[in-house]
Amino acid sequence: MRLPIDRRPSSRGDRMKTLLVVYHTMTGGTEQMATALVRAAEGEAGADLAVRLLRAHETQPADVLNADGYVFCTPENLAAVSGIMKDFFDRCYYAALDRINGRPYAVLVCAGSDGTNACRQIERIAKGWRLRAVADPLIVCTHAQTPDEILAPKAIDAAALERCADLGAAFASGLVLGIF
Ligand SMILES: Cc1cc2nc3c(=O)[nH]c(=O)nc-3n(C[C@H](O)[C@H](O)[C@H](O)COP(=O)(O)O)c2cc1C
Repeated sequence: MRLPIDRRPSSRGDRMKTLLVVYHTMTGGTEQMATALVRAAEGEAGADLAVRLLRAHETQPADVLNADGYVFCTPENLAAVSGIMKDFFDRCYYAALDRINGRPYAVLVCAGSDGTNACRQIERIAKGWRLRAVADPLIVCTHAQTPDEILAPKAIDAAALERCADLGAAFASGLVLGIF
């Protein structure tokens, strides 16, 4: 169930908040998940929230500093976050350290059959950044097993995309309402 959003300006005259969604994808699964989340966040919050969907390689420390909440979206590759996603964290970690404490975050992982280690890695990085998880990590498994299946373009099923959308809507509501 979605909470109605009170769109009246707050007495504190708050500026519009920004949700930053950072992702990497190789065969398209993570991108579909991130896009479903972003569409739902935009649909939920309308003009009350800026939702930025950025590829990991183009995301800069300033993008992290200027956001109010984060969704980190990655494939699990070799029991880890993808290399490009790791590069994003490596480039931004110290520039943002102690400057984003307490901000909310969530995680999307697209995996073949597991995904837990990528989640664990992001949780450790987020702990260093003193971020606050607002949802359990959302893992979608494609069940690709063979090299050909793993390297093929992915089509994430509607039920899984709906879970991503629900998370996006809930995150957007929480930010706009000031719950997070
Ligand atoms: C090099 C490589 C390593 C992978 N390692 C894992 C893994 O450790 N665990 C897992 O569950 N899936 C693994 N996968 C499967 C991917 O997570 C899966 O194909 C997923 O759809 C990738 O997301 P993407 O479509 O956004 O690129 C691996 C795929 C590749 C190409």
